[in-house]
Order: sequence, then C-alpha cells, then structure tokens
Amino acid sequence: MKTIFFLDTASINDILFWKNYGLVDGITTNPKLLSLEKNKALIQLKKICEIVDGPVSAEVTEKKAEHMINQAKVLKKINKKIVIKLPCTLEGATAAKTVIKMGCKTNITLSFDPNQYLLFKDLNITYFSFIVGRVEDFGKSNIENLYTISKLIKTNNPRTKLISASIRNSSHLSHSIAAGSEVITVPPKTWSNIFNNEYTISGEDDFIKSWNTLTSQDRKGYEIKK
Ligand code: E4P
Repeated sequence: MKTIFFLDTASINDILFWKNYGLVDGITTNPKLLSLEKNKALIQLKKICEIVDGPVSAEVTEKKAEHMINQAKVLKKINKKIVIKLPCTLEGATAAKTVIKMGCKTNITLSFDPNQYLLFKDLNITYFSFIVGRVEDFGKSNIENLYTISKLIKTNNPRTKLISASIRNSSHLSHSIAAGSEVITVPPKTWSNIFNNEYTISGEDDFIKSWNTLTSQDRKGYEIKK
C-alpha cells in the first residue's frame, strides 16, 4: 500500500515548495491555519485548489449541525476538490449524514480517542483524522491508540481512510506508517525538521572537512570548477 501524504497547511509557498519533492498528494487546512494567511479564507482555498491535484480539506467553523450543513453548501462551491472537514462531535456526526447525501467527501477531524470513531462507523465518511501530536501538550501520548484506530476502521468500514494528523516529529510519522494509516497529513515544519537531519548535516561537514585536508593538487580533477 502506497502511503498518501497531505500537507497540513494553508500556505501557498509551503505547498509549492513541498510539491517539488512529491510530498503533496492533497491538503488539509483548518481555521487556525487559514487565519495565518493574508488572503480571505475563501480566496485562499480557491488558490490552493488551483495548485494542488488532490483533495483539499476545508473545515467548518460552526458548532451546530444545521449551521455546519449550511456552511458545507458554501464551501463545496469553491472547487470540486474540496473535502468538508467536520469535528468529531455528536453535532458533527449529525451534519455528516446530510453532507454525505449532498455528494460531498468528508473528513472527520479532532478525534483523540479511537472509540469516537464508533459514531461514524456506519457512515461512508471519506477520511477519519486521528490526532497524534496535540495530546502531548497535555502530557499524554496517542501512539498506542493509533494502532487501535487503524484496526477499528479496517474491520468496520474499510472504505474510510485513516488520516494520521498533528504529526510533529519523526516518531509520529514512523508510527503512523507502521500502524497502516492510508494518509498522513504533515505540517511543513515537521518535514523541514526531518529533512534537515542533524546527523546528516554533521556527517556531510565531517566528510568535507577531511576532504579539505588534501592539497589542491590531490583534489584536482575530482572537484568541479566553479
Ligand atoms: C487536522 O485535522 C488538523 O489540521 C491538524 O492536524 C491539527 O494539528 P495541530 O495539532 O498541529 O494543530
């Protein structure tokens, strides 16, 4: 199974940067991420849809099902790539039923306990986002639960894809892969940290330092002319 990577951002620059490295199969945004951008949210989402080939999650900001549904009607008009992101609440589950009937793809987010999925097991939601990192702010770990939620979805409704979200470090990413998450949504900062590995950089410096002890005559021919 090929792992699909979404970028957890609303930044055009970050999307263009990581797209070059093949790490943008889709985008997940949330109201907080959109609040960091200069454009109005609808305009920003439209721009994101224009530069990304895959699905783009747009989250509701309402707390009542009826209002979430009305907001979903507005968000779905932005672009066919839009996936309606709903919170993992009782109201979110009520809204999901109608939003699915409206023909929208859905992404249930802010799930911290695998058993929260039980509200959604009989609905054909497209994605279920399980939050890995954020609980660590409260001194807890969701790593073990990642394996449980993965099993729970596969045995109950394999049509739903598990998204591992709030991936703050390499360990979160490795466990998401090991647990069998079909999709992993990664913030740009986490990719930057992983690919600027301190051992890689110090190893590179070490090799070049030794190389530079050679005379220019010994290095001639091997080195390129600049
Ligand atoms: C996913 O639904 C959210 O956009 C995101 O993963 C939340 O991550 P955070 O804990 O880094 O805000």
